[in-house]
Amino acid sequence: MRDSDRLNYKSYVQDRMNSTELDVGTKAMVLKDSSMTLVEELFENPDVNQALNGARPVIQDFVKFMRAEPEAMSHLISLSSHDFYTYNHSLDVSVYSLGLAEALGFQGVDLEEMGLAALFHDIGKRQVSLDILCKKGPLDPAEWTQMQKHPQFGLMILNQNDLASDAVKAACFEHHESFAGNGYPQKISGQEIHPFARIVALTDTYDAMTTQRSYNTPMTPVDALTMIKEKLSARYDPEMLRALHSVLFKMKNQAA
Ligand SMILES: [Fe+2]
Ligand SMILES: [Fe+2]
Repeated sequence: MRDSDRLNYKSYVQDRMNSTELDVGTKAMVLKDSSMTLVEELFENPDVNQALNGARPVIQDFVKFMRAEPEAMSHLISLSSHDFYTYNHSLDVSVYSLGLAEALGFQGVDLEEMGLAALFHDIGKRQVSLDILCKKGPLDPAEWTQMQKHPQFGLMILNQNDLASDAVKAACFEHHESFAGNGYPQKISGQEIHPFARIVALTDTYDAMTTQRSYNTPMTPVDALTMIKEKLSARYDPEMLRALHSVLFKMKNQAA
C-alpha cells in the first residue's frame, strides 16, 4: 500500500469508528478488517523497526475502542475464531492478550506494549523455512528442532531493532516457557517468566486450539478452555487462567 492510500484508508476507518450510526459489532468488524491489511504488511516488511512503529497505532486503535465501548472486547473476541488468514494468529493473540491484560489490571502504555508484544511474539518464524511452517501433519524431530528455535530467532531479530522494548523481547523469547518449568528454550518457571510471556503462552494455545487449520477441526471456546484447565493447567499461571475464563465468558473477574 502506498503512503497516500494508507492515509486515505486510515481516515476512512477513523470516520467509521467515530460514527454514531454504526453499532459496536459493526465497528469491531471494521477495525479487525482494516488491521488485517496493515498487519499483513507489517510481517512482510524487512525493516522491523518500521514494522514496530507501524504496529503501535493499530494497537492504540484497539485500546481506544476498548475504552470507548464496554462491549468492544466481546465483539472483537467473537470475530476472532474460525478463519483462515495467515496473519490472523498474531492479531488474534493480540486481541485475546489485550483482553486478558486489561482484566489483570494492566493500563495505558503497559496495555499498548502488551498488544505490540503479542503481535510480534512469533516474529522468529520468519527464520523458519516455509516447508516446516506449512507442513500438513506432524513434524519430524529435525523439523521440530528448527521450529522450536523461533523464540531465539525472534530475540535475535528484535535485538537488531532498537525500538523493541524489553517487554516485547521477553514475550517473544519466553512465550513457550511453562509455568511448571518444562518449556523451552530456557526452562524457567513461575514468576521468573515475564508476565507478558505468561499471558501470550495462554492466549497462543487458546488461539491454536480454536482456529481452523488445514489438518484439524477447531475446538469450541468452552471445550478449549476445559481442556486447558483439565489437562494443561500446570503450564500456565493459575491467576491468568482464571482471568481468561472471565474474559472469554464475560463474567466479571471477581477475585476467586
Ligand atoms: Fe510461538
Ligand atoms: Fe504463536
